[in-house]
Amino acid sequence: MITASGVAEVRSACDEARRAGRRVGFVPTMGFLHPGHRSLMRAARVGNDVVVASIFVNPLQFGPTEDLERYPRDLAGDSAAAEAEGVDLLFLPAVDEMYPEPPLTTVHVAGLSEVLCGASRPGHFDGVATVVAKLLSIVGPCTAYFGRKDAQQLAVVRRMVSDLHLPADVVGCPLVRERDGVAMSSRNAYLSEEDRRAAPVLFGALRAAAAAVTGGERSGGALRRLIAREVAREPRVALEYVATCRPDDLEPLDHLEGDVLVAVAARVGSARLIDNITLCIRDADVVADLGVVTDRPESEVLCAER
Ligand code: PAJ
Repeated sequence: MITASGVAEVRSACDEARRAGRRVGFVPTMGFLHPGHRSLMRAARVGNDVVVASIFVNPLQFGPTEDLERYPRDLAGDSAAAEAEGVDLLFLPAVDEMYPEPPLTTVHVAGLSEVLCGASRPGHFDGVATVVAKLLSIVGPCTAYFGRKDAQQLAVVRRMVSDLHLPADVVGCPLVRERDGVAMSSRNAYLSEEDRRAAPVLFGALRAAAAAVTGGERSGGALRRLIAREVAREPRVALEYVATCRPDDLEPLDHLEGDVLVAVAARVGSARLIDNITLCIRDADVVADLGVVTDRPESEVLCAER
């Protein structure tokens, strides 16, 4: 595995690979890698000849009161993990390399960026869209892998790539969970022992929602109330929002039919956690994508209910 910190070096390595007819796969991250990130690297490894991953804690996507300074970092552990997953080129730019000057040019994906998490994190998705556009410009034509854990981010990135004709194929990969159902996240490191014990209530509520829909529930409002009730059983967890919407444009859905994203965000102690499931509803048929457990997404599907 080669490590690079310069934009020019990564750009020329990727150009050279493509000139040699090799397919480039790209996995952008902010590091503190866990099996969710690793599953993206594994997917990139399977589908490409050259795998590029980046680790960059992007200041532009953190609000003034957010956790930029204390965001967890572990460069040695991350390098070992990336190498173990077969990453060929690990891009580790410094902030000055990505932002030699404060950017006057940013990317704003209207509408998609203001709802759900965007409502409480103004500017966050502009920061994400801007850095992803920059990274895709550096890496060049590639297949880029994103987790469905961040369903809104995936929708924003897909729409930006489409609107700007960026030369990337965007692949959304399954949400990876801990054994008790908690969605893996670098931010889980912020949870105290008690908060960590409370955190599974989110997935419990989503699972109950999937069961209700499988049982015939088709009202978005009823489903959101059911989730709010389930989460309220755990006093340590404060629900910020629960949404039922279309996964691609995040349009709210009150009647549940077709592909439905059920997304939640909650405060647990000092951490802000997000989670979601996707339901594919065709008349009486329901297929629930609840994510996968452990670091072997291909082997252990938690539940696909019909
Ligand atoms: P980060 O939070 O490090 O996540 C990097 C990628 O890993 C994202 O595509 C995210 O959706 C995916 N991921 C995180 N946890 C996951 C899980 N439990 N299961 C599946 N995939 C998971 O997302 C970012 O960084 C940044 O916003 C970034 C896109 C790198 C731009 O700065």
